[in-house]
Amino acid sequence: MYQSLPTGDQLPLAVWRKILVKNSRLLEETSLDYTGDAFGSIRLRKSISSYLRRARGVMCDWDQIAIFSGSQPALDLICRVLLDRNDWVAMEEPGYFGARRSFAVSGAKIIPVPVDEEGISVPFLRQLDTPPKLLFVTPSHQDPTGAMLSLRRRQELLTWAAEGGVLIIEDDNDCEYRHGGRTLPSLMAMDEKGSVIYLNTFWRTLSSLVRIGYMVVPRRLLAVFTFVKSIVERDFPVLEQAALAEFIEQGCLERHIHKSGALYRERWHALTHACTVHLKDSMALAKESGGMRVMARFDCSRFSNERIIEAACEADFPLFSSENYYIGAAPPGEFLIPFGQFDQATIARGVKAFAELITV
Ligand SMILES: Cc1ncc(COP(=O)(O)O)c(C=O)c1O
Repeated sequence: MYQSLPTGDQLPLAVWRKILVKNSRLLEETSLDYTGDAFGSIRLRKSISSYLRRARGVMCDWDQIAIFSGSQPALDLICRVLLDRNDWVAMEEPGYFGARRSFAVSGAKIIPVPVDEEGISVPFLRQLDTPPKLLFVTPSHQDPTGAMLSLRRRQELLTWAAEGGVLIIEDDNDCEYRHGGRTLPSLMAMDEKGSVIYLNTFWRTLSSLVRIGYMVVPRRLLAVFTFVKSIVERDFPVLEQAALAEFIEQGCLERHIHKSGALYRERWHALTHACTVHLKDSMALAKESGGMRVMARFDCSRFSNERIIEAACEADFPLFSSENYYIGAAPPGEFLIPFGQFDQATIARGVKAFAELITV
């Protein structure tokens, strides 16, 4: 599977190197911010909480933020703390397989919830006999369809969760990159009942520079999460946290997101243009635009999945099937096309070569 991650030339290497060197020098004189706090460096948590306020409208305090090495270990902790065997967890279908695996390993039973162009179906959730214990959603850029959860659905979802005592896990994956249309505040920013646990990772924006993700814990769950986190994972690389804190404080993260976002937008336009020119009778791209990859639906009455994959390999055109995202069977002809790490000329060439092979 192709990773939708920035490549070396898209990363702010020079500024990161400078900050890293400066902080490693500081390390000679002080112990930086080593506190032995299981939730991570206080300075980093403060910088993330002000970033979240600016970027996502989340009004949390720094002590509600817990640092992890990504979203996946944060999900694992949520499962350990909150799930018992045979508990019900609802999640989008298709949905993020990493979350599904964590729930399955905890012995939870999964309710697949349909997704449409407005995101997860709240009417479907409303007609369940018993509400699940947890709901996992990707509202900013539904993984994998790309749909953004509409404002109306966000309100309905929060009302449903509050009425049923359901905890929502908001994975704000890809919130940084939208290529058109407006951005909406996160669910956690709209929540007044403490029903949302917020997750995000720097993996998508900074990839291999930092391997850090974080969770915002509702205040009422703080004590239990702090206790369990201190058993599972106590310390983090001090230097990496100090450098990331400074990177955020100096505005480098937002500058990088702005710059890389413009690049991905250009690449998204290059892909949609090339597909309209060469493939408009053969497939349709998802309307929503964001992130670094897009869903494509091919005319399955004309092309088998095998034929699509064969032509893509031959044309060196990156695409992969959506099958991993489904509990049930994926619809035939459904694929994901990563575009963020390819320049416009490569995208145009790849689409043309693929179209020539597939449409003969
Ligand atoms: C919805 C979603 N959340 C999280 C992640 C990855 O998070 P991490 O690698 O930090 O665990 C991915 C990666 O593909 C994803 O698709």
